[in-house]
Amino acid sequence: MTNICVVGTGYVGLVTGTCLAEMGHTVWCVDINEDKINRLNRGETPIYEAGLDELLHRNQGVKRLFFSNQLSVGLAQAEVVFLAINTPSSESGDADLSYLSAAVDTIVTHCDTHLGALRFLVIKSTVPVGTGAKIQQRLLPYGISVISNPEFLREGQAVQDALYPNRIVVGVNHVDAEKMMRRLYHGYVCRGVPLVVTTVPTSELIKYAANSFLATKISFINEIAMLCEAVGADVLDVAHAIGLDQRIGPHFLSPGPGFGGSCFPKDIQALQYTAKEKGVDLHILQAVNQVNRRQREWVIRKVTSVVPTPCTIAVLGLAFKAGTDDMRDAPALTILPALLKLGYSIRAYDPVAMEMAKGFLGHDITYCEGVTATLIGSDVALILTEWDEFVTYSMADIKQHLTQPMVIDCRNILNRQLASDLGLTIIGIGRGI
Ligand code: UGA
Repeated sequence: MTNICVVGTGYVGLVTGTCLAEMGHTVWCVDINEDKINRLNRGETPIYEAGLDELLHRNQGVKRLFFSNQLSVGLAQAEVVFLAINTPSSESGDADLSYLSAAVDTIVTHCDTHLGALRFLVIKSTVPVGTGAKIQQRLLPYGISVISNPEFLREGQAVQDALYPNRIVVGVNHVDAEKMMRRLYHGYVCRGVPLVVTTVPTSELIKYAANSFLATKISFINEIAMLCEAVGADVLDVAHAIGLDQRIGPHFLSPGPGFGGSCFPKDIQALQYTAKEKGVDLHILQAVNQVNRRQREWVIRKVTSVVPTPCTIAVLGLAFKAGTDDMRDAPALTILPALLKLGYSIRAYDPVAMEMAKGFLGHDITYCEGVTATLIGSDVALILTEWDEFVTYSMADIKQHLTQPMVIDCRNILNRQLASDLGLTIIGIGRGI
């Protein structure tokens, strides 16, 4: 079993560290945020991620998973250090690598005095192509080999994705690095998980290409949804039928209010930036972004076309998708301020993102406790996030609580036939018939 240090306890670092411990490795997770580390040491999980609590406690209990705010403590026995530091968008659209560089500086300072067993540095963070090579230059004097090992975790399903990945991608520049990664992921490979071994820059690009392709599928179906409305077609049938073609596949073909989150928007921007620097135009990604922006405007237009002002709208769902409390780049952040500006009043509810949302959206919105409290006192409803709680909520009650029986369902989660039998109007996305 390998001694590992994971730097950064965001959702990637925490889930990666915990799952590596679950695979039997000894893992120290390190973060400069002392409060977070104290909470983790008290057995509190600082992020909302299904299944993480249980896994964390089990591995802390069997003494395979430890937390510290001291890098020197985490690195004391480590043979491998993982970097899981956030790389947000900078002003220019490029990835801001300042946090990552600061972490590398600290590792270098540590190595100057106590190199110990450290031989490998694995980059989990999403970094522009060429970053691994630059870090390798800095670590050459210490004989540390840099490895790229991008993550493909989805927020909300991160534990599941980390334990049962579709593939593991590893970029190496030395045979020893490949051997070590094969040893580290032996348990996965035995279960049949494909391990793709390639060069460091190729591995870095795979991560961006994967996210860009998924975002492209979403913008594609969102654009088709708009056309469906214009021609009287149903986008759900279109998506289902094209998805049955194995060359297309059924996933990421759900139209909605546009993609958000901390990954797709920033990764597309960063990839465009890299391409521009190299003199390559990425026309498709430019369109993907444009369509995504237009999608949010389309939702606003949908509301204004059927709801007069002044009216009160019950907004159900604020997080950028279900299963997370993450509000970064959530469609709600564009749509709600625009609706307020147009003169609507907003009552809002999200099962887990309420506290986060208040920080982002401010106090012009009435935040309610539960679906019923949100609907009572509202004229119409607007669904922005596909939480199960909204799917199972009684449509008869929706009709009863609203003054006008209408739901603008931006995730197409409500059954229109049942609603229509109850006299509730559902306006979906791309459902022209
Ligand atoms: C995404 C990728 O799916 C992960 O593989 C990747 O590891 C991660 O980014 C990352 O780079 O860290 P995530 O941002 O957590 O994961 O969320 P997704 O489930 O991919 O959803 C992204 C956005 O697309 C959400 O706003 C979601 O509502 C939207 N979406 C997704 C749709 O509008 N339609 C779909 O069919 C699927």
